[in-house]
Amino acid sequence: ATERPDPSGSAPILVASNRGPVSFTSEDDGTLTLRRGGGGLVSGLSAIEDPNAVWVCAALSEADRTAARQAPDGRLDLAGHDVGGQAVRMLDIDPGTFARAYNGVANSTLWFVHHLLYDTPTSPVFDERFRREWESYGAYNTAFTEALAAEAAPGAAVLVQDYHLSLVPGRLRELRPDLRIGHFSHTPWAPPEYYRLLPDDVAAEVLTGILGADRAGFLTRRWALAFADCCEALLGAEVDRAALTVTYRGRTTALGVHGLGADADFLRERAHRPDVDARLATLREAVGERRTVVRVDRTELSKNIVRGLLAYRHLLRTRPEWLDRVVHIAFAYPSRHDLPEYREYTAAVQRIAHEINDEFGTSTWQPLILHVNDDFPRSLAAYRLADVALVNPIRDGMNLVAKEIPVVSDQGCALVLSREAGAFAELAEDAITVNPFDVIATADALHRALTMPAGERADRTKRLAAAATALPPQQWFLDQLTALG
Ligand code: G6P
Repeated sequence: ATERPDPSGSAPILVASNRGPVSFTSEDDGTLTLRRGGGGLVSGLSAIEDPNAVWVCAALSEADRTAARQAPDGRLDLAGHDVGGQAVRMLDIDPGTFARAYNGVANSTLWFVHHLLYDTPTSPVFDERFRREWESYGAYNTAFTEALAAEAAPGAAVLVQDYHLSLVPGRLRELRPDLRIGHFSHTPWAPPEYYRLLPDDVAAEVLTGILGADRAGFLTRRWALAFADCCEALLGAEVDRAALTVTYRGRTTALGVHGLGADADFLRERAHRPDVDARLATLREAVGERRTVVRVDRTELSKNIVRGLLAYRHLLRTRPEWLDRVVHIAFAYPSRHDLPEYREYTAAVQRIAHEINDEFGTSTWQPLILHVNDDFPRSLAAYRLADVALVNPIRDGMNLVAKEIPVVSDQGCALVLSREAGAFAELAEDAITVNPFDVIATADALHRALTMPAGERADRTKRLAAAATALPPQQWFLDQLTALG
């Protein structure tokens, strides 16, 4: 076992996020198996060399809660697991409180607001049920605040992540005014005229919660300015758009723009291991000599999978030259299935996929390969194989798939990219960009991408990969720490 740091008040660097770097599953005999998570935050944290750093996260499942309860002073024993140097403290929050905070407020309300997902004639409805959820969101944010306050050394830097924890910076500042506090939004930010559909007190508390931070980070300038617009319109805060600062009740919060990039070293190494090679061979066999259009997403409303499939159908209907000459590989892995909207959306994706294969498929050609289970090596294999990548979200904080595919691509890949993805700010020049709501324009973009000459495709892919890796996760993380001072 490794040396255990002092259990309280000794961490010079802290990270807080709902989903932590590890999760647990329990086997039939009750033993717990640990899994390392993926994503930019986990890679970014590998830059921390300080063994006293602490990552505070929530237990997300019964297995996580069991592991959290078994952990001495709440810290998981990660010895022997490749999860970086820091300690992980997993909070065992009451399951009902957690569900109301995570499903009710974070994922059904704040996520919907920032991604403009509401069908407004019928939803949202802010009633008593929402008020209970909002109260739970407060309790859940308090649990994080108290854990951070207990773990932080004097003057420590605390980096709070995302919309789950928007009340933490303000509350933490009250408990521990000595700390340097950063908040980072991995989502877009809603424009004021949409944001103010939230109940007035909720809208204001979320903004003032984040303004409790010394710095509030965003993935693009567009989202940072939208946040500033909301602070000005709803709170009457003073905004300096050139300096990117918001001043409210005598305190100034600096807004930072940190465009998280792809982790090239990790991806290139991981994408050439035998498990990926094996999956690539299987995909190649299914595709044959045909061209490929690849998409990889969580089955997420904002990812716009349904319109992507409709665009592919339109392409096959209107350009018969592609019949039997293209295969669409769509990986849509499970996400947030506690929410009925996500279950319905998953069903809609599967329905349209069947319709496409019924309409065009032959005994020797399956026009669409849809997989709805998660398999990271298989996703990497598809990245390598793709002739065209389709990334068409309605709205997206960044979209790392758009950045990862050019890095991993074997022979160059044309990128069809939504202008509403954060990645658009960095990749627009060498992508074929689309209005994600326009299915015909998306079909045209797919056609252009499929017919792009090989030389041009390879050149563009090189430039896309360079732009996509400009700020690797480790640097992204260190930049924020440095900016906090
Ligand atoms: C987005 C959010 C993250 C979240 C991830 C997966 O990227 O910004 O905070 O962790 O989606 O969603 P989940 O609800 O499964 O954690």
